[in-house]
Amino acid sequence: MSAEEFTCLLLEEGEDRKVSHSIQTLSNDRLPEGDVTVAVNYSTLNYKDGMIINGLGRLVREYPHVPGIDFCGVVEESAHADYNPGDEVILTGWRVGEIHWGGFSQRARVKGDWLVPLPKGLSLKQSMAIGTAGFTAMLAVMTLEEHGLSADNGKEVLVTGAAGGVGSIAVAVLANLGYKVAAGTGRAETHPYLTDLGATMFVGRDELMEAPKGPLGSELWAGCIDNVGGAMLGNVLPNIAYWGTVASVGNAGGIEFTSNVLPFLLRGINLCGIDSNTCPKLRRLEAWGRLAEQLPLDKLDAMTNEAPLAQLPELAGKILQGQVRGRTVIDVNA
Ligand SMILES: NC(=O)c1ccc[n+]([C@@H]2O[C@H](COP(=O)([O-])OP(=O)(O)OC[C@H]3O[C@@H](n4cnc5c(N)ncnc54)[C@H](OP(=O)(O)O)[C@@H]3O)[C@@H](O)[C@H]2O)c1
Repeated sequence: MSAEEFTCLLLEEGEDRKVSHSIQTLSNDRLPEGDVTVAVNYSTLNYKDGMIINGLGRLVREYPHVPGIDFCGVVEESAHADYNPGDEVILTGWRVGEIHWGGFSQRARVKGDWLVPLPKGLSLKQSMAIGTAGFTAMLAVMTLEEHGLSADNGKEVLVTGAAGGVGSIAVAVLANLGYKVAAGTGRAETHPYLTDLGATMFVGRDELMEAPKGPLGSELWAGCIDNVGGAMLGNVLPNIAYWGTVASVGNAGGIEFTSNVLPFLLRGINLCGIDSNTCPKLRRLEAWGRLAEQLPLDKLDAMTNEAPLAQLPELAGKILQGQVRGRTVIDVNA
């Protein structure tokens, strides 16, 4: 990367409204407005990036667009009071990569208020192995705990879509905190991988897609981090134990669900939404601090693959088909 130009993945919309992608080198004056300019080291691949690269979900308003909802790197220029050139920073969310140019780029310009400093104990690369997926997993763990989950409960915490990015990090963090973890996955071949991350029980996707027999099922789970949504979410609620909580994180399996109110009225369960995009700064700092301390880095390294910018279109297709395991870091300078 030169001081005047940067290379990025650029999305363009054709007259037929089809979105195409190419690797382009652009001059710095194409960068969007913002008070901090960052030389990006790494980005990462999330489910939402898969949608954006494939032009799905109407998440991008204007083209040409640089996608990438996460990045980390080193501050080059700053007019923000909290950041100076040379600072190592992370960005996740705030709709960067959707309505603001994102991190699949060697250089990014954003609002300093959106950044967090790299927490002590994590390398830049590890911060992107975590990325939005891992940050969201920690927000979900925090939410379950704030609603009363504790490791002495004895029952398993269910993680659906366990072999995906959010799921893998949720399994590793929960297991490290002493929870028993049941991994809900449609890929039996990932069982050894999930066992290494700390899962002690497996539930097949087919089983989780079966509607419970009545409005209240057995009290199977102390809580749940749900990355799948749709019918699976509706099916899980009647199997949550007294006072347990479900963190609704994802929609990899759909957005609509039906269920019934009895688990809420007769077992006091909770259903909580997680929005990593607009998470307030103090909670962000808490989540990143906890990730640096409570996510075992050997497990993070074991679930992480690395790829160059040029491989993103292929990986974007795979993540939408549920074929990506764990986390993928993108080396934007490779
Ligand atoms: N709320 C937030 O702030 C937030 C933040 C990040 C992500 N998300 C959402 O959370 C979800 C997971 O994100 P991710 O980055 O972890 O994606 P990912 O790596 O693709 O993981 C999703 C996992 O869900 C399972 N899955 C995929 N398609 C499915 C289907 N049709 N039916 C049932 N299960 C299916 C697969 O797990 P198995 O192979 O193990 O079955 C897959 O690995 C996505 O919906 C994403 O949009 C939300």
